[in-house]
Amino acid sequence: MNDAQVIQWFPGHMAKTSRALYEKLNLIDIVAEMVDARIPKSSRNPLLDKLIGTKPRIIILNKIDLADNNCTLKWINFYKKQKNFTLCVDCKKGKGINLFVPKIKNILNKKIEAKNAKGIKKTLRVMVVGIPNVGKSSFINRLSKGKKAKVEDRPGVTKGNQWFIIDKNIELLDTPGILWPKFDDVYVGEKLAFIGAIKDQIMDTENLTCRLLEYLNDNYQSNLIDRYKLENCTMVGKTGREILSIIAQKRGMLLSGGKVDTERASIMLLNEFREAKIGKITLDSF
Ligand code: G4P
Repeated sequence: MNDAQVIQWFPGHMAKTSRALYEKLNLIDIVAEMVDARIPKSSRNPLLDKLIGTKPRIIILNKIDLADNNCTLKWINFYKKQKNFTLCVDCKKGKGINLFVPKIKNILNKKIEAKNAKGIKKTLRVMVVGIPNVGKSSFINRLSKGKKAKVEDRPGVTKGNQWFIIDKNIELLDTPGILWPKFDDVYVGEKLAFIGAIKDQIMDTENLTCRLLEYLNDNYQSNLIDRYKLENCTMVGKTGREILSIIAQKRGMLLSGGKVDTERASIMLLNEFREAKIGKITLDSF
């Protein structure tokens, strides 16, 4: 069994991010917190709760095309029980995006009605927040289709910020709030690395792949067997390194002298996992 790698955390980022986010929060009515559906817990930063206080929030589970459907349903229920609003999307194909505006209107309905009663047409403002690579820009691009609000329409309000019009009286801040992940728990750091949210250059790829293989052998064994034709192998009790070696052999990844090229195999495995070629897989459990 390989040990989880300890990934370094840089507190400087956290302080800078918090400040930048906090300043933008004053401008908006609702936060769209984007998480990766494969790690709906590990891709959240608890700091956001403190930052946004009572400001309304919707949790957007993105990349549902890569996550285990059953697990996604369980996570939605979990967040709903905690009284959170949720939306599942696939920003690559645009699935679920058209439900965003109706949901926002529904969540902020009371605010809209209160303003209407005073004869004011309230413009609702949204900011997308999430860890790097979670799909924030893809989401913003899908929603906005590049339609920018005119700066001169609202002097003072838009200073230094640009907004996209996404519906009548709904605007979206064109720059997302980047929230660095909080990986002081080694397993959170590891999951972020599995999905590619942390640069591979700072990781020991082989070790990481062995850990991933152990997780898959415990939780998605049939996916591994199907993908790498391991029907004739005894998988129970195998270490990640043993499985990596078998897969390298099966794929003919050999070095001169006949030794298996586990480095090449580990890069291939990580890529195949990230592209969901091993199947739709979720790494966070309850
Ligand atoms: P960010 O702003 O939060 O940093 O993320 P961004 O939108 O840049 O997306 C990061 C990567 O994730 C991009 O891939 C993007 O295409 C991909 N992505 C976003 N949403 C989804 C989704 O729902 N499903 C899948 N499968 N992928 C998604 P990339 O490889 O960096 O670029 P490219 O493939 O678009 O060229």
